[in-house]
Amino acid sequence: MAQNWTPSSWRQKPIQQVPDYPDLAALAATEERLAKFPPLVFAGEARRLKTALANVAEGKGFLLQGGDCAESFAEHGADTIRDFFRAFLQMAVVLTFGAQLPVVKVGRIAGQFAKPRSSGIEKQGDVSLPSYRGDIINGIEFTEEARVPNPERQIMAYRQSAATLNLLRAFAMGGYANLENVNQWMLGFVKDSPQAERYRKLADRISETMDFMKAIGITSENHANLRETDFFTSHEALLLGYEQALTRVDSTSGDWYATSGHMIWIGDRTRQADHAHIEYCRGIKNPIGLKCGPSLTSDGLLELIDLLNPQNEAGRLTLICRFGHDKVAENLPRLIRAVEREGKKVVWSCDPMHGNTITLNNYKTRPFERILSEVESFFQIHRAEGTHPGGIHIEMTGNDVTECTGGARALSGADLGDRYHTHCDPRLNADQALELAFLLAERMKGGRDEKRMVVNG
Ligand code: PEP
Ligand code: CO
Repeated sequence: MAQNWTPSSWRQKPIQQVPDYPDLAALAATEERLAKFPPLVFAGEARRLKTALANVAEGKGFLLQGGDCAESFAEHGADTIRDFFRAFLQMAVVLTFGAQLPVVKVGRIAGQFAKPRSSGIEKQGDVSLPSYRGDIINGIEFTEEARVPNPERQIMAYRQSAATLNLLRAFAMGGYANLENVNQWMLGFVKDSPQAERYRKLADRISETMDFMKAIGITSENHANLRETDFFTSHEALLLGYEQALTRVDSTSGDWYATSGHMIWIGDRTRQADHAHIEYCRGIKNPIGLKCGPSLTSDGLLELIDLLNPQNEAGRLTLICRFGHDKVAENLPRLIRAVEREGKKVVWSCDPMHGNTITLNNYKTRPFERILSEVESFFQIHRAEGTHPGGIHIEMTGNDVTECTGGARALSGADLGDRYHTHCDPRLNADQALELAFLLAERMKGGRDEKRMVVNG
């Protein structure tokens, strides 16, 4: 077990991004209630994810991580979850086919509620109010009342996470994810897009393969891998009081686990080595993500790796790189070289969203071509360094939103107002997400062919 660590030892450290709860007694009472609630996920599941990620770290898999920037209470509903899951499964199938590697599926879902903010204050006209920090903390409406942090929201977030997870488990294990349904995951609004034709062709090839396998006796009835899929959950572990309340000892190993989600990550604003968020995360055994932005020095990264993964276990740590399309070439190679020099085992994942945000017509948006450009650079750099581009981390939804510009339908700044629903950062819609998956699949296929040429050459 980590030395001098307890689930509450983070409370002795400096901390960033804490909400200003007016009633601390009410907050403590809520945390006590949460501490008695059942865990949302089990240690064994988190260990299974770690094993799958270890495979990715070794170059034998690919991580697909995505979902809302911030889940919201208002948009909680079966259709939203189902449509997200469909879009996500489509991406996963496209990637599996392209990479011919297992795709580890991790949603930013069932717990992704708390948001770090660049400013504690939001100003509209002459009025200044505390910033919105996610539905688990306060309300998005621009009123004094809504912006007061309310601990009761933690209970609501817990219950929403439980309901969401319940449905996701049913979708993943109950037949919806059966590969025989590969033709049925297409969402209505994607059907007439250029991606649809490409997807249909791929789905037909998979169906044909399935028919062949059926003929030789391999069916979804006798092979669970065809019928079911492993789907894991993740979120940023920002609200540490909530995380602590859901931190439990695993009875089989005696280790501490965060049971709020399978994987949790540390944001780019809260990764100071001697601060609370790193302190909390170093003591739990779940797979951990670490956001790496341009301000992270190479030595700073090595220090964090030693704190978070002292045993150098593959699968424990995923580095989620979010530099921006114009900064990735300057920053990623130096981090890769430092990690390689020290022999550290990590999963390299690319978040092409958070370094590419701009404001257009008063909307926060992300140009699709910048997202693609960062992904392209990520792949090229890994190829040049001889390391494995292990994953992608995106903000996406199954809903037909207009939040990121560009893509095959060429959404413009003027379209953003049509269906701009996000509670925080702009997400790829299902169409754009699928387009990105096809591009990634091509890059991975390229990498595979290149490797073969080296081997055979
Ligand atoms: C996020 O993932 O929504 C986020 C806030 O990311 P970052 O910490 O990388 O800015
Ligand atoms: Co975000």
